[in-house]
Amino acid sequence: MREFSSKDFFVHPDIRRAESLPDSAFTDPDFLELEIETVFKKTWMLVPRHGSPEHSTGFSGFPNKPGSRVPFSLMGKPLFLQSNSKREINCFPNVCTHAWHPLVESPGIGGSIVCPQHGREFDSDGRFVSHRGFEKLEDFPRESDNLRKLPVENWGPFMSMCLGEPLAPFKKSAENIKESMPGIDLESFKYKPVPDEVREVDGNWKQHAWNYMDNYHIRFVHKGPGGLADAIDLQTYTTELYQHSALQWAYARRPEDGFDPQQVATRFKEPNKADKRVFALWWFIFPNLTLNFYPWGLSVNSTCRYREDLTGPSFTGSNIHWTNRSSSKETRSGSTNKSTMRT
Ligand code: FES
Ligand SMILES: [Fe+2]
Repeated sequence: MREFSSKDFFVHPDIRRAESLPDSAFTDPDFLELEIETVFKKTWMLVPRHGSPEHSTGFSGFPNKPGSRVPFSLMGKPLFLQSNSKREINCFPNVCTHAWHPLVESPGIGGSIVCPQHGREFDSDGRFVSHRGFEKLEDFPRESDNLRKLPVENWGPFMSMCLGEPLAPFKKSAENIKESMPGIDLESFKYKPVPDEVREVDGNWKQHAWNYMDNYHIRFVHKGPGGLADAIDLQTYTTELYQHSALQWAYARRPEDGFDPQQVATRFKEPNKADKRVFALWWFIFPNLTLNFYPWGLSVNSTCRYREDLTGPSFTGSNIHWTNRSSSKETRSGSTNKSTMRT
């Protein structure tokens, strides 16, 4: 990997003098490699609902059944989730500790995990159990013969994991989000399939993050008639910065398109202006997850697979919808209208 200098990352703290990162930050595979080590292996990522292009991960019923397991891939890494006998969920690399054969090839339920290649057996906590023919080895089994547990967190209907040691506990971001919408119960959300759930995004993951945090383009790109710029009161567009996340929100032009006041935090209430209602809570969780809460439910965007092809290192995004079963606004057209969603 090539050596990088501070020039490769420099952004002037004075916004009047700041410029974009050099183009290599968006196209150089070495730069992406560095980002994977320093960013993506230290941050929480949503376990994709669709495991990989080859197989669609079936999450229905998971993780409620002890012994259930499901393979998926994230950032090109083969992984699987495994529920143990106490229904605790663990996440492991999907490779055998003997000779790296994939362990779990499709979703299923079972007792021990048996490697299809030479029969090495692990329990549902990933501990080595047995391997026929290896009985007389010295100093065996060792710690490295167990499967390596990766951090995993369950939050409402979502599962997040980290490929390495996370920079901050997941609950830090989750608490900020929960605090912004005390009247919304994530557990009540119901998955709603939409046709364009997985999208190929020709571009670097930073462009997605950048576009999301840029509200300046809304008045140009999402203008009327019928666009987001029509649906919100742009004057009230607000960005709140947190340590590993950011919240953007604005009032709806029409109060009926906004949240019921008791669903969101009291800080969003305008004194003596009951018709000012929050149109959406757009949460960005560094580096690649957006949770877009609307009165009808939630649209989740995450960039989770990467391709290195002619366009350079790029990410594939997913756009998953959840409806809020406790909301009366599920079918109201004003707020479920795709053209008024944040993209
Ligand atoms: S690769 Fe799994 S037992 Fe050999
Ligand atoms: Fe946009």
